[in-house]
Amino acid sequence: MSAVLVFFVNGKKVTEVSPDPECTLLTYLRERLRLCGTKLGCAEGGCGACTVMVSRLDRRASKIRHLAVNACLTPVCAMHGCAVTTVEGIGSTKTRLHPVQERLAKAHGSQCGFCTPGIVMSMYALLRNAEQPSMRDLEVAFQGNLCRCTGYRPILEGYKTFTKEFACGMGDKCCKVNGKGCGSALDDTDDKLFERSEFQPLDPSQEPIFPPELQLSEAFDSQSLVFSSDRVTWYRPTKLEELLQLKAQHPSAKLVVGNTEVGVEVKFKHFLYPHLINPTQVQELLEVRESPDGIYFGAAVSLMEIDALLRQRIEELPESETRLFQCTVDMLHYFAGKQIRNVACLGGNIMTGSPISDMNPVLSAAGAQLEVASFVDGQIRRRTVHMGTGFFTGYRRNVIEAHEVLLGIHFRKTSPDQYIVAFKQARRRDDDIAIVNAAINVRFEEHSNLVADISMAFGGMAPTTVLAPRTAQLMAGQEWNHQLVERVAESLCTELPLAASAPGGMIAYRRALVVSLFFKAYLAISLKLSQSGIVSSDALAPEERSGAQTFHTPVLKSAQLFERVCSDQPVCDPIGRPQVHAAALKQATGEAIYTDDISRMDGEVYLAFVLSTKPRAKITRLDATAALALEGVHQFFSYKDLTEHENEVGPVFHDEHVFAAGEVHCYGQIVGAIAADNKALAQRAARLVNVEYQDLSPVIVTIEQAIEHKSYFPDYPRFVTKGNVEQALAQADYTFEGTCRMGGQEHFYLETHAALAVPRDSDELELFCSTQHPSEVQKLVAHVTALPSHRVVCRAKRLGGGFGGKESRGISVALPVALAAYRMGRPVRCMLDRDEDMLITGTRHPFLFKYKVGFTKEGLITACDIECYNNAGWSMDLSFSVLERAMYHFENCYRIPNVRVGGWVCKTNLPSNTAFRGFGGPQGMYAGEHIIRDVARIVGREVVDVMRLNFYKTGDYTHYNQQLEHFPIERCLEDCLKQSRYNEKRVEIARFNRENRWRKRGMAVVPTKYGIAFGVMHLNQAGALINIYGDGSVLLSHGGVEIGQGLNTKMIQCAARALGIPPELIHISETATDKVPNTSPTAASVGSDINGMAVLDACEKLNKRLAPIKEALPDGNWKEWINKAYFDRVSLSATGFYAMPGIGYHPETNPNARTYSYYTNGVGVSVVEIDCLTGDHQVLSTDIVMDIGSSLNPAIDIGQIEGAFMQGYGLFTLEELMYSPQGMLYSRGPGMYKLPGFADIPGEFNVSLLTGAPNPRAVYSSKAVGEPPLFIGSSAFFAIKEAIAAARQDQGLSGDFPLEAPSTSARIRIACQDKFTKLLDIPEPGSFTPWNIVP
Ligand SMILES: Cc1cc2nc3c(=O)[nH]c(=O)nc-3n(C[C@H](O)[C@H](O)[C@H](O)COP(=O)(O)OP(=O)(O)OC[C@H]3O[C@@H](n4cnc5c(N)ncnc54)[C@H](O)[C@@H]3O)c2cc1C
Ligand code: FES
Ligand code: FES
Repeated sequence: MSAVLVFFVNGKKVTEVSPDPECTLLTYLRERLRLCGTKLGCAEGGCGACTVMVSRLDRRASKIRHLAVNACLTPVCAMHGCAVTTVEGIGSTKTRLHPVQERLAKAHGSQCGFCTPGIVMSMYALLRNAEQPSMRDLEVAFQGNLCRCTGYRPILEGYKTFTKEFACGMGDKCCKVNGKGCGSALDDTDDKLFERSEFQPLDPSQEPIFPPELQLSEAFDSQSLVFSSDRVTWYRPTKLEELLQLKAQHPSAKLVVGNTEVGVEVKFKHFLYPHLINPTQVQELLEVRESPDGIYFGAAVSLMEIDALLRQRIEELPESETRLFQCTVDMLHYFAGKQIRNVACLGGNIMTGSPISDMNPVLSAAGAQLEVASFVDGQIRRRTVHMGTGFFTGYRRNVIEAHEVLLGIHFRKTSPDQYIVAFKQARRRDDDIAIVNAAINVRFEEHSNLVADISMAFGGMAPTTVLAPRTAQLMAGQEWNHQLVERVAESLCTELPLAASAPGGMIAYRRALVVSLFFKAYLAISLKLSQSGIVSSDALAPEERSGAQTFHTPVLKSAQLFERVCSDQPVCDPIGRPQVHAAALKQATGEAIYTDDISRMDGEVYLAFVLSTKPRAKITRLDATAALALEGVHQFFSYKDLTEHENEVGPVFHDEHVFAAGEVHCYGQIVGAIAADNKALAQRAARLVNVEYQDLSPVIVTIEQAIEHKSYFPDYPRFVTKGNVEQALAQADYTFEGTCRMGGQEHFYLETHAALAVPRDSDELELFCSTQHPSEVQKLVAHVTALPSHRVVCRAKRLGGGFGGKESRGISVALPVALAAYRMGRPVRCMLDRDEDMLITGTRHPFLFKYKVGFTKEGLITACDIECYNNAGWSMDLSFSVLERAMYHFENCYRIPNVRVGGWVCKTNLPSNTAFRGFGGPQGMYAGEHIIRDVARIVGREVVDVMRLNFYKTGDYTHYNQQLEHFPIERCLEDCLKQSRYNEKRVEIARFNRENRWRKRGMAVVPTKYGIAFGVMHLNQAGALINIYGDGSVLLSHGGVEIGQGLNTKMIQCAARALGIPPELIHISETATDKVPNTSPTAASVGSDINGMAVLDACEKLNKRLAPIKEALPDGNWKEWINKAYFDRVSLSATGFYAMPGIGYHPETNPNARTYSYYTNGVGVSVVEIDCLTGDHQVLSTDIVMDIGSSLNPAIDIGQIEGAFMQGYGLFTLEELMYSPQGMLYSRGPGMYKLPGFADIPGEFNVSLLTGAPNPRAVYSSKAVGEPPLFIGSSAFFAIKEAIAAARQDQGLSGDFPLEAPSTSARIRIACQDKFTKLLDIPEPGSFTPWNIVP
């Protein structure tokens, strides 16, 4: 028995005596080994930021297995005898880059870089297993990785170069290698964003070897281990008897194999399991036995190994024998991500017994045989149990007893007359848990379609996997045909009811899915019967057949077109060229430092928050005694530590509190904070703080409830009017009244909010903060500490994404951290866990619009009266400004001569909602796109024609009196229609829809017009500071923050051109309030515009000072000039400043000014296919043409467009925040909140930058790009709506139907009404309390 943990990390041996069984590999790497390249994004296996490679020797197979795993779920104790490779272990900028790092960086696949190490390691692990993987291998490798910035395309483009598919018979002459893409770029355009021929080749012989010590000594596998802390003991037995004895001694002990269930329970449900048993060295649990009947898998065999062997046998054995195998691998493809499947076992899935387990329906329908063992009366007892009726005895319980261990599972071969199929429907196809899944196992009488017996199992319909024995009985002896389907559908509806308030919500959808999934199975099996000649080939109508299929990720096709720089532009001038993100290589090697990567300091403590567990209540007791009693807990902070004035904060209005004072206004509001020695302890102590409440009412969560209670912020409603709306509506040929609604969106920056505060002198504070607005943090820290601002410095080196979420909400973390540091006189740190971040920091604003529109017979809009409501949450934050932008953007690209826009900021009991890329603009334009489609539908014209009819023209005025200059929307539209082959696709789609009953396609065009400037006048200013040093190197500082958007890269490019030096001479270290003061937030897309101009201003000053020196030394070089300037005592430091001119419109006080400096425009066309039975969808293609002036850096700008599109696509189709009726956020992690993943990119994704459209109003004729393309993501939503309309048309239903965004699979399915949805008796809203509501 050993108590010493031994493993290797990046080739170095690590020996740990008595390791902590609660410590994860991630914490160990980051905290103990200071290997901070591996990131924490979620702690629940859902984002892949923590991916590392674990290698272990499989002695039985004499093979070293390299597995990508999630370090956040891997217990460090499980690493005994393993070699761990992190991103730091494969290459570095100081030594040699690994090709995996280099290609990702140079292909522009890293923006904020927080996801990058995880993606690098997923790819690296793949290459360690397959030197030349296929594109399908890539698809699988990245199922468990998320990126919120890039839109994934550049990552895949970079990594495609490693694949079989990329290797082309043309060798060096290949168009992919020599740089000319296969597409045909026009003369003035370029289509090459990176130079593939520069990539270093992959040389597998250079990879680090598996540590010989681990190979040589069997002791690493044969040792029994026990590791203990004061709370938990970890056992690693090596013999079955030892395992069973332990389980007999500690029946409540948890077996830990992949830890993908137990780890989540411990972290998020705060379960404490005093005994953990790791059985992965017990041979009986790892056994794989093949027999003529089938295959037996030991319970601890990983899902990936099961998948691999089953796939092999499917290739080799007759199809009729492998139907269960096929059904299993189909299911496993969509089971979690690869990192989870690499370690998770089937035994863990069965024994957890989750009602939405993916394998339990398959195994239950198959009646799988399980082997179980226990240690009773001094001996091993074995028994066999069958899955199926009676196996599950309750929520997460089954017939296997606590002292027993599951040994293994039999997978039987199928017989020729047996068919087994399974389907899973989730929010997102890849790496998501099921909403409902189903497995159907049917055996027919020999060579017939008469059902001999059938077993149907469903997940997601009850607290356990359930079977439908009554319906099965009804089917016995019946013919497998459409009449049977009708009866089965009715029977399933009654046999599998779901209470209207059942957990999980989506009641109608889930019930519809049961029938729909059965019907899909019916279609799939019927096709097989017809293929084998058992039923006639016309048993299924041709248009029904595609209903049997599911979507598969298409292999990406893409093109990026941009303007070529002039041939006479100097080679060293980087403007207009696709330069790599300045920090990309550091990000790809894990060297880039984010806030929480800053080394721990002497005396540092961690701050954890006590959060409100009520939506609205009075605090009647606040007692931290129990928490403070724990050793290592130092102090508790609450509102009592501040004066009333100090406690009142907010970005504009001081209407919120650092700590709740007397009352809480939402779930997740910060009530207090505990400072303790480390994170785990601080969080545990925070849970011990006793807060008692007295509930207050009413609790207002939704916009509708706010309207009912007239719960608006003061001064609302506000109106903007133009012309005479009443009169125009009265005179219109037609009027139409409509509403539309859209939900919020979680920012899901990969790096959560983080702050580190360090006291300097007794009256100075230095803050390192993940904020888009360092000056505001500085100002408010000064406010809460009562220090003047010059004693507080706030620094932001880089952020792992922000998207608006770190514009104003950073204060929630920064202020308590700063206060604690100041009061305690020691460094204090906090980086929110993902669930805390999602709960505390607010989202994009949900919006409701009610409109009345008047128009002519031709579809020309003459008037619009529109009401805009946003859900602000409990404090104002920036909600007034978000609303204003929505009110100014609702008309999108359409000229409406008579307008009245009303706006209401709704006050609710939700965390304060905040800025999010687009800032109300997308919500407003969403209403405009509904209006244009309503008009087109009513006048019976093509949407595109009605768009053209209504488009603004150059010289027109908006409803806020801004004249449009050089308005390019028609050009964008025509280019985009051509690029997307719009007319051809319309014909193809119409044909497809005629030929398919259960699959439909839709296409939508969406234009966008986005106003560039902060709505608040004074923010439209920026500063810069340039210091030139004696060696000629230049340190540039500006007021913007590098959030991943490439701002620093662009600023370096601007300074390089302005100073006439290569970009390599220029460095940007950080954004800091002591370098450039009074900065504006990095937001509103104007980062490059305003900071770029400030940088130019500083460069001009320096150029003026250097001019005489250059004149005197015309043949000198930069270094010589700088040297001379220094000795001539010329200042080599200059500040720059910029204030955006001509803006600040106010109808009364400044009517001639513009609201926005200019507009960024674009058009997108998306084609989407939906599965009418499940509501699933796939974007087949997206084409975008954007006018972004003369791009400063096409690689970065195209990256912004693609990333914004994908974020918009998520907003409008996929990302759904789930709240309880009391306003508690359920969706607090990637498990429940689904961002688009790699597999969600459009199958064909083309982006073009409009050429020949320089912008006179921004730096080097460029245009702002960060936010404007986001709205184009809605093209997928409107295309889905078209596809649903086609499905409804088949049923004779109206094309005027409500569809709220996001158009989730649930909403799509329910909108596609058909004979199955008619069977559902759905209780009236209001007659029950739903599980969730939409805010
Ligand atoms: C990000 C993520 C995505 C996921 N996606 C899916 C998904 O798509 N579909 C799905 O079905 N599940 C999913 N899961 C759930 C989980 O991965 C699976 O249930 C997995 O099979 C559990 O295996 P494990 O080895 O990690 O279990 P562990 O966490 O190690 O153990 C789980 C439980 O099983 C018990 N146990 C394990 N082995 C035995 C045994 N031999 N005898 C008795 N008891 C045993 C343990 O005591 C424990 O209670 C997901 C989980 C995560 C974190
Ligand atoms: S941090 Fe491990 S998967 Fe997200
Ligand atoms: S670059 Fe992927 S999350 Fe930012």
